Amino acid sequence: MEGKIIFKSQEESVELSMNQEASILSALKKASGVDSPNLEFTDNLEFGDFSSNIAMSIFANQESRIRNQGIKSTIHDSQFKSPHKLAENIVNKLKSDKELSKIVDRIETAGPGFINFWLKKDVLVDNLIQIDKEKEDYGKSKIGNGKTLVIDYSSPNIAKPFGIGHLRSTVIGQAIYNLYKFLGYKTIGDNHLGDWGTQFGKLLYMIDLKKTKDYSIDNLEKLYVEFHNLVKDDESLEKHAREWFKKLEDGESIARTVWKQCINVSLNEFNRIYDMLNVKIDNAFGESFYEEEMREMQNDPKISKFLVDGEDGKSKVIDLTSIGITTPLMFLKSDGGTTYATRDLATIVFRVKKYNPDIIVYEVGVEQRLHFKQLFAAAKILNLINDDVELVHTAHGLYLAPDGKKFSTRGGKTIKLEEVLDEAIERAKKLGNKDDKTAKDVGIGAIKYFDLMHSVQSNVVFDWEKIMNMEGNSGPYLQYTVARCNSVIQKASTFKGQALQDVYSNLNEEESKVLRTLVRFSGIIATAAKSYSPNLLCSYLYDLAQKYNSFYNAHRIIGDTNQEFRIMLTKVTGQVLKNGLKLLGIDTPEKM
Ligand code: ARG
Repeated sequence: MEGKIIFKSQEESVELSMNQEASILSALKKASGVDSPNLEFTDNLEFGDFSSNIAMSIFANQESRIRNQGIKSTIHDSQFKSPHKLAENIVNKLKSDKELSKIVDRIETAGPGFINFWLKKDVLVDNLIQIDKEKEDYGKSKIGNGKTLVIDYSSPNIAKPFGIGHLRSTVIGQAIYNLYKFLGYKTIGDNHLGDWGTQFGKLLYMIDLKKTKDYSIDNLEKLYVEFHNLVKDDESLEKHAREWFKKLEDGESIARTVWKQCINVSLNEFNRIYDMLNVKIDNAFGESFYEEEMREMQNDPKISKFLVDGEDGKSKVIDLTSIGITTPLMFLKSDGGTTYATRDLATIVFRVKKYNPDIIVYEVGVEQRLHFKQLFAAAKILNLINDDVELVHTAHGLYLAPDGKKFSTRGGKTIKLEEVLDEAIERAKKLGNKDDKTAKDVGIGAIKYFDLMHSVQSNVVFDWEKIMNMEGNSGPYLQYTVARCNSVIQKASTFKGQALQDVYSNLNEEESKVLRTLVRFSGIIATAAKSYSPNLLCSYLYDLAQKYNSFYNAHRIIGDTNQEFRIMLTKVTGQVLKNGLKLLGIDTPEKM
């Protein structure tokens, strides 16, 4: 197959869809006189590849200016009686733009005043060649070069099970990390383990009381519950717990040793899950790591001048009313101990010093919305961070059980993520994926895809039927489409088809739709990253797979006169699906 296909290619090198978008935008800017016109991929290819509502927004702006200032209309007096007329005028100017005509061959107005653009077939076919050339690098870009992103994700708590609640953070966080890396950003992932705080005082007290050496998560969880039962009858236990935490903070050796052992046991369990999920996070510093920064902050007059007494007269808080937040941030508790928020502030100090990031993303659930609002506000007030650094809390939604109830417990027992993952692999086996590696790729891929296909902020209703659905929008469906592409290519290698000189003069509708979807890949990646929405990439991949499968079902590939082109189309579709799934952290088996 190699070297057989001779496509009629443009002289100039092919541009990625992002560059196409840039070219259309610059033409639109000239033609409309607006500095930042909008341009979007169309929802429906019937309306072209790109669409802009610039005429409508110019019109709406003028109307409101006229209304507000009482001035006589300029548009109403002129030939533009409607956004549609204005759109027509812009289209006429665009049609005479020589640069634009290199990539676009049809521009039309539609509806109340949309302007729609159709890419030239040369652009689509050249893109196909580019995919074939760049393979797993296709879609990569340099837009992030020189910029740094820190992402804080997964972050389970020591001595507690890795619940289903931390799954979303792990999976979404990894996808965002991958997307930004692909865009050329320097990316640093940090697993902000919950390994500090008064709960460790309670544990140390119980471990000492029971003289136990069993540091398994199950036992530690039990001890923690038992502490809370005991304390109901004897409040003095709180004091003991505080004393133990104080020992830990002061570095007392027994406290530190036992605490370290608890961490090791927990990390062993967590690492089993990360192995199953095939997730590797650059760092796992954990909350305890920032002791030095915390001490420095407490002694820093530039910080302490912002600390005021809390309501109890003993604690120290940061007042956030200047930023419109009425709940102050607790900086030091009444016993002088630090809080989750203090540690997060110290973490910002460390990250700024060490990485000088442009963006810090916290992939953490919506239940911590207030915490992050306070944190970001306090970081600004304390001047820990420049105004141009983007601080993002993704605020993902919850997992819900199929009945819509909270998912994290079953009959009072926490549901263990490991059991869910095991079941996914079992179910993948039942779908016919016999060997272990394939079953794992399909089972884990199904769980990850199901999580990622939901918009980050929405809740996810757990539903095995949908997760494993081979016919609909699911991980297995996409993996199966890749396997289908692989099998077509394999059969093709034994054929010696004729070279095809001029495919694009007679592209059929299904082929054309696949090509026009393929060309969107890099644009989608950039948008998904920018909006911290891996679900946009999921929708895209599903759309591409559906369009390919429609083509596959309607047309013969092997033995057709267009065989070479169709094989190529198959090959690059498989490649783009694979690249997209990889960004989502999903592996694709060769065969299914
Ligand atoms: N360990 C925390 C929890 O499970 C999440 C930590 C999120 N990251 C952060 N920097 N606060 O709730």
